[in-house]
Amino acid sequence: SQSKLLRIQSCIRAFTDFPTKGIMFRDICPLLKDPAALTAAIDLLEDYVKKNHEEVDLLIGLDARGFLFGPLLAQRLGVGFVLVRKKGKLPGPTVSVEYELEYGKAEAEMQEDAVEAGQKVLLIDDLLATGGTLYAACELMKRQQAQVLACLVVIELKELNGKDKLKPYPVFSLVKY
Ligand code: PRP
Ligand code: HPA
Repeated sequence: SQSKLLRIQSCIRAFTDFPTKGIMFRDICPLLKDPAALTAAIDLLEDYVKKNHEEVDLLIGLDARGFLFGPLLAQRLGVGFVLVRKKGKLPGPTVSVEYELEYGKAEAEMQEDAVEAGQKVLLIDDLLATGGTLYAACELMKRQQAQVLACLVVIELKELNGKDKLKPYPVFSLVKY
C-alpha cells in the first residue's frame, strides 16, 4: 500500500497560478495516463470501502473529475454509479442545490429517481478543496433521504479545511497537501 501511494503521489503535478494567480493547481492528468498508478488509486479506494463500509448501495460521482474515478470504483464494488452534475445537463425531473464557489455560485443537480430514500451511498470526487462541492452533493442526498456513508477523494488540500465543512460525514483521501 505504501508503494502504491508513492506511485500515485509521483503522478500528481502542481502548476502555480492556475487557473488564477495565487492558486497552486494539483493536476491528475499524469495519474490517468499511468495505468499502474490509476489501478493503485482504485485499489486503495476499494480497500478503504471494503474495510469500513459493509453495505453500500450506490456510488455517487461529482461532475466532472469524479466521473473519471467513480465508474472504475463502482465496478470493483459491484454497485451502480450515479451522476451529480452541474445544472442543466441532466434530462427529466431533477433536484438541485446551490453552492458557493470562489467567485459566485454554482448548482449541483441529480435526477430525482437516481437515489431512493434509505439507500446507503458513497460520494467520490478527484479533489477536496473548500468542500463546497461535496457539501452540496451531501445536501442533495439528504433531500432524497439517502444516507451518506463517506466522501472519497484522491487529493485533499488540508489548509482549506474541507473536512470541517463536511462534518459529520467522514472523508477519506489518498494524498494530502
Ligand atoms: C474542482 C474539483 C472538485 C472541486 C473542489 O472542480 O474537481 O470538484 O473543484 O473544490 P471545493 O472543495 O472547493 O468545492 P471544478 O468545480 O473546478 O469543476 P470541474 O471538475 O468541472 O473541472
Ligand atoms: N487542483 C484541481 N482542482 C482544484 C484545485 C486544485 O488544486 N483546487 C480546486 N479545484
